[in-house]
Amino acid sequence: MTRIDIPTDDGNAVEVRGLVKHFGKTKALDGVDLDVREGTVLGVLGPNGAGKTTLVRCLSTLLRPDAGTAVVAGYDVVAQPRQLRRVIGLTGQYASVDEKLAGRENLYMIGRLLDLSRKEAWRRADEMLERFSLTDAAKRPAGQYSGGMRRRLDLAASMIGRPAVLYLDEPTTGLDPRTRNEVWTEVQRMVGEGSTVLLTTQYMEEAEQLADELTVIDRGRVIARGRVEELKAKVGGRTLQIRPADPAELARMVGALAQAGLDGVAGASADEAEGVVRVPIVSDEQLTAVVGLLGERGFKLAGIDTHLPSLDEVFLAVTGQPTRTTATASRTDALEEVAA
Ligand SMILES: Nc1ncnc2c1ncn2[C@@H]1O[C@H](COP(=O)(O)OP(=O)(O)OP(=O)(O)O)[C@@H](O)[C@H]1O
Ligand SMILES: [Mg+2]
Repeated sequence: MTRIDIPTDDGNAVEVRGLVKHFGKTKALDGVDLDVREGTVLGVLGPNGAGKTTLVRCLSTLLRPDAGTAVVAGYDVVAQPRQLRRVIGLTGQYASVDEKLAGRENLYMIGRLLDLSRKEAWRRADEMLERFSLTDAAKRPAGQYSGGMRRRLDLAASMIGRPAVLYLDEPTTGLDPRTRNEVWTEVQRMVGEGSTVLLTTQYMEEAEQLADELTVIDRGRVIARGRVEELKAKVGGRTLQIRPADPAELARMVGALAQAGLDGVAGASADEAEGVVRVPIVSDEQLTAVVGLLGERGFKLAGIDTHLPSLDEVFLAVTGQPTRTTATASRTDALEEVAA
C-alpha cells in the first residue's frame, strides 16, 4: 500500500494562509502563514503557549480554524477532513494509546483502521515494534509501559500507515538521549521514504538535526522563518569551547587565532575563570579549521565542545525579547471541538 505520492501543483505538501483560532479571548493562532515543501521537514519552534499544538490540531482536523485556509496533501482541512485524515499521521504532545491493549495489538488495530489487510497489519506492527525497540514489550499492555515506551509506541502508531504528511508535536520531550536519537533516525527514515513532516519542538538541537526549514511562532504569530543555517547565523551559530591542557596558554591561543585570520572566524575570547577559549562559529568547516590550526601550532588540548544557541537565544535574536518564562498553555482538552 502506498500512501505517499500525492502531487500538489507547487510542490508544497502543507500550505497555510492566515490561519486564525481563538479560544475565548485567547488568540491561539493569529494569522499564521506557512508552507512545507513536499519531502522536507519544517520545524516549528516556540515557547509554551505559542500556538504550536493548536496549529497541529487545526492541520489534523481535530480543531476547526476560525479563519484562514490550510491545504494538506491537496486536501482542504475544513472541506475535506475525511480524505485528509487518511493521508496524515499524528503524534500528539500527550500519548494516546489504548492502555488495555498490548503494544502489538495497538499497532495492529491502527493498521486495520488504515485499511491494511490482517497480514499486512501484523507485519507492519512487528516492523514498527522492532524499529522502536519495543519487540520485547510487544505483548504487554500499553498501560504498563513507561512514559518513554508509550511515546515510542505512539510514534510507531503515527508512522504505521506511511502517511504522506506526518505531524509530530514535541515528539521527544521527556525521552532519554538514546531514545531521542532513535526517534530522530526513524523520522529521517520516514522522510527518506517520501513523507513530509511538520515537527514542533522546544529543542534547538532537535530542529538542527531534523528540520530543513524553521518557523518560529510566538503568541500565535510567525516571528521568524528561514533555513536552519540562516536562523543560526542570526543568532551567531554555535560557540566552540576549547580547553588547553595548560591554562597558561589561553592568551597565546587567542593570539594565534586572531593572527591566523581564519575565514569568517572572528572574536575568539579567553575565559580565565573557566579555563577555556570561546570562538563563535557558523559551520563545521570553521570548526575543523580552528581545531586544525591549534594542532599545527602545537597546542595541547584537554577538551573541545560546541554549544548550540538555545531557543532562548534564538528568541532574543529574532525579537529582541527574552522568552516569556511563565507557561500559559492550558492542558485541557475539554473544549476541543472535533470538526465533522
Ligand atoms: N482547548 C483550549 N481551550 C482554551 N484555551 C486553549 C485551548 N488550547 C490552547 N489554548 C490556549 O491557546 C494558546 C496556545 O496554546 P497551545 O497549546 O497551542 O500552545 P503550545 O505552543 O503548544 O504550547 P506548549 O509548548 O506548552 O505545548 C495558549 O494560550 C493556550 O492556553
Ligand atoms: Mg503544545
